[in-house]
Amino acid sequence: MDGNRVLVTGGAGFIGSNLANHLAETNDVVALDNGYLGTPENLAEDVEFVDADVLDEDLPTDVDVVYHLAALSSRQMLEENPREGARVNVEGFVNVVEQAHADGCDTVVYASTSSAYGSRTEPSPEDMELEAATGYDASMLGRERYGEYYNSYYDDLTCAGMRFFSVYQGYGGNEGHKGEYANTISQFADKIASGESPVLWGDGSQTRDFTHVDDIVAGLVATAEHELTGVYNLGTGEPYSFNEMVDMINDVLGTDVEPEYEPIPLENYVHDTCADISKIREATGWEPQISFEEGVERVCAPYLDSE
Ligand SMILES: NC(=O)c1ccc[n+]([C@@H]2O[C@H](COP(=O)([O-])OP(=O)(O)OC[C@H]3O[C@@H](n4cnc5c(N)ncnc54)[C@H](O)[C@@H]3O)[C@@H](O)[C@H]2O)c1
Repeated sequence: MDGNRVLVTGGAGFIGSNLANHLAETNDVVALDNGYLGTPENLAEDVEFVDADVLDEDLPTDVDVVYHLAALSSRQMLEENPREGARVNVEGFVNVVEQAHADGCDTVVYASTSSAYGSRTEPSPEDMELEAATGYDASMLGRERYGEYYNSYYDDLTCAGMRFFSVYQGYGGNEGHKGEYANTISQFADKIASGESPVLWGDGSQTRDFTHVDDIVAGLVATAEHELTGVYNLGTGEPYSFNEMVDMINDVLGTDVEPEYEPIPLENYVHDTCADISKIREATGWEPQISFEEGVERVCAPYLDSE
């Protein structure tokens, strides 16, 4: 995708900043964020930063493509602040799409989540029946219903929702601002590098379909280029357990830090995730390029470089 004017909401956040920086190499990019969690320090110099809220009335939606990634991005955030979560995640999406459509934008790609699949060791296809076990899931499924409505109501707009699976990059990338909300691999690598034991819930056998942010960025761009409608998984289809992940981090860092194990403190804890990626693969040809082994090396590299 080259030579377009593009808006990335949540553009100072983890995935948004990676996307904005990548797109800015060949496009005119505006990154919009209200600083709830992200920071403009994540952005490259050639990205225009706009400090604004997705609920604002006059958004910079005079663009060719909108990537809508702004959200209260975790289950905990919506538990602490359910009304604000619904406003930002659902009404914010509606506000952005309405303004983008009024300004003549015809392509919207937005973030949804894989967490509504619940716990599954088998690959989860997009057409599965889903339950909203948390307020976060409910808000993202609400977004998807609006996305579906926009696709049928506006002939001149395509809207595609992306169900991301456990996205990571590491604190040495643009994930540092997420702190306790960052991916477990990023948190655990940071702990292990400083000789501290990571705390694993349960017995560490839970699995995640860890997906490197570079693959997510490529999937988002491919989705916009193909002007897709509907919802798509972005994952790898190859999950790893937390115990395996800790072993791999220790191997790469040359450390021998033992994890601590604590009882799982959450109800409705998702024990296992795994993406079925056949739909996005067939629609765009996209394939994840970064194996988990390579991803662990990338997360750990800044700690080795600083030795
Ligand atoms: N990281 C993952 O593994 C993952 C998995 C599934 C879904 N998602 C979704 O992907 C999107 C991006 O996630 P992320 O990991 O980059 O999280 P993030 O929290 O780093 O990014 C979200 C950004 O939205 C901004 N924001 C929040 N409220 C806003 C508002 N009212 N107006 C403008 N900006 C606002 C935040 O400041 C933040 O920079 C989110 O929608 C998240 O729910 C992420």
